[in-house]
Amino acid sequence: METMAGMRRSCGCGKVTENDCGKELTLAGWVNTRRDHGGLIFIDLRDRSGIVQLVLSPQYGEEAFHKAEGVRSEYVLAVKGKVRERSADTVNPKMKTGKVEVVVSELRVLNKAKTPPFYVEDGIDVDENVRLKYRYIDLRRPEMQNHLIMRHKIVHEMRTFLDENDFLEIETPMLTKSTPEGARDYLVPSRVNPGKFYALPQSPQLFKQLLMVSGLERYFQVARCFRDEDLRADRQPEFTQLDMELSFEDQDFILDLMEHMMQRVFKKVLNRDIEIPFKRIKWDDAMNLYGSDKPDLRFDMHFYNISDLLRDTGFKVFRSVLDNGGVVKAINVKGDAAIPRRELDGLVDYVGHYGAKGLAWIGFNEDGSLKCQITKFLGEDKIREIGKACEAEKGDLVLIIADKPKVVAQALGELRLEMARRMNLIDPNEFCFRWVTDFPMFEYSEEEHRYVAEHHPFTAPRDEDVQHLLTDPSKVYAKAYDMVLNGVEAGGGSLRIYQEDLQEKVFKAIGISQEEAEQKFGFLLDAFKYGAPPHAGIALGLDRLVMLMLHLDSIRDVIAFPKTQSAIDPLTQAPSTVADKQLKELHIKVDIKKEKDLFEKA
Ligand code: AMO
Ligand code: AMP
Repeated sequence: METMAGMRRSCGCGKVTENDCGKELTLAGWVNTRRDHGGLIFIDLRDRSGIVQLVLSPQYGEEAFHKAEGVRSEYVLAVKGKVRERSADTVNPKMKTGKVEVVVSELRVLNKAKTPPFYVEDGIDVDENVRLKYRYIDLRRPEMQNHLIMRHKIVHEMRTFLDENDFLEIETPMLTKSTPEGARDYLVPSRVNPGKFYALPQSPQLFKQLLMVSGLERYFQVARCFRDEDLRADRQPEFTQLDMELSFEDQDFILDLMEHMMQRVFKKVLNRDIEIPFKRIKWDDAMNLYGSDKPDLRFDMHFYNISDLLRDTGFKVFRSVLDNGGVVKAINVKGDAAIPRRELDGLVDYVGHYGAKGLAWIGFNEDGSLKCQITKFLGEDKIREIGKACEAEKGDLVLIIADKPKVVAQALGELRLEMARRMNLIDPNEFCFRWVTDFPMFEYSEEEHRYVAEHHPFTAPRDEDVQHLLTDPSKVYAKAYDMVLNGVEAGGGSLRIYQEDLQEKVFKAIGISQEEAEQKFGFLLDAFKYGAPPHAGIALGLDRLVMLMLHLDSIRDVIAFPKTQSAIDPLTQAPSTVADKQLKELHIKVDIKKEKDLFEKA
């Protein structure tokens, strides 16, 4: 095998232009394709910058030509050659370098390659597990390289912006104590402290608050977070946050700062102008109007609460729901009255997946007639009244769900999204930001029969709600905010509690005893006794943000080495069993059989 000794790359493959014609260049890269036309061989050579066509013929270099005969896809080459313009009939307008080619005089084979398991090209249809097992090849594909390049640029802009705004980048520990973000912890046994465990951080929350107590004033970190939770397309067990905390500023300042950061990043990286300030919507309104705390507002289609219209009717389906604390809500799908019956039946199944026990529809036909299966229960006048309440015009379709408020929110919220997709109401190129503010401070956990913190227990309640902390926690809203982009939660944060008495009240409200608080985050509470400044922060989900900016559907496509939906890495085969010796050193016994027994008993 040959080496690059005495040779140095003078240009990137994708950077060769007409201006280089007549110049001798040295290039290096991978064989993308090779076409053998007998006396003439064409090789598309690829490096990170792109692809350029090489031409080999015995007349330009006998030795190089013969070597090229043995070259295969993904071999690594270095070549010397002269750039020339392609003849008009061979120009390839699809290639950035399609007007030129490099006539090779010297070729070195730096390495061979096995036939790759899939083509190194964009738009391949290959099982994701195979792509992840051979991720190093998958990442050779231009689109994947582009994702990582864009991710780099986005992070670079964020860093620059925060640096200009006086933030310090500070690292916090990976081996630490459990953080209260609500997911399960990943635990790491300590060999030198038998029987004890570190937790990998779910976020740097506690440390960034300590840094505020330390007087660092403005902190940020591109922070890896670990959460052992059920995975979805936009969740990974380890993911990255752009994590920030700052002292002496209020909510408006933070939201404004984030808006300017987003504006800058979108302009510099995508050359897109995004409008600021982002509109704000209170959590209650978001839930009432869209059934979601992360509404996709690239289209409107909000809910109509028609409960009051239906309280006095004899229709027992709606009556029994309303009598039991439920609600009846509707959406108006503009222009969809002609929807076929078959499709409507499909929608009943669709909302069934989200727990709705039924779906009623009213099609306001163009000819003035109604398409509705509940007219016989409610009478036509009532149906027309519902239509009016939902601002229905001829041609519109009103869809109605009656159920418990939570079920209506979820099922009608999902139906809203599904109808928008079917009616093509979503512009895939749009970026629609919203701040969702004033989250409830607590959520009642049916499982634990008590209130738990919706965000984390250091989030400050709204001043006007503090009075309800110990009497009716359900009335308390938090100084918390989420950044929502196109219906995805792209970030979240809050103003923090920094005074001891308020913190104690909040712990009390969620039934955390003094001892438990002491044991879990005593160090933070202690720190607060030594002069904690008012502070607040936010963390953006970097993977999600990059995914959204690039219009992708999965965060796995913007992470170099992600895990599958079952939290496995097909490349390294992690997680794996470990040697008995390692376990012994850690004083750990794996008792899977016993676990299984427990599982079966449960
Ligand atoms: P939160 O838990 O809302 O807040 O997380 C902040 C953002 O991180 C992203 N995110 C995830 N991304 C990928 N995979 C996951 N499993 C995952 N979980 C969360 C989301 C989310 O909005 N310490 C607080 C922030 C603060 O209060 O300052 C926190 O972690 O985009
Ligand atoms: P039923 O009497 O249960 O057959 O219901 C009559 C009609 O009421 C059904 O065809 C549905 O269109 C509608 N319906 C039933 N349950 C619900 C519900 N929970 N929400 C909305 N509409 C419903």
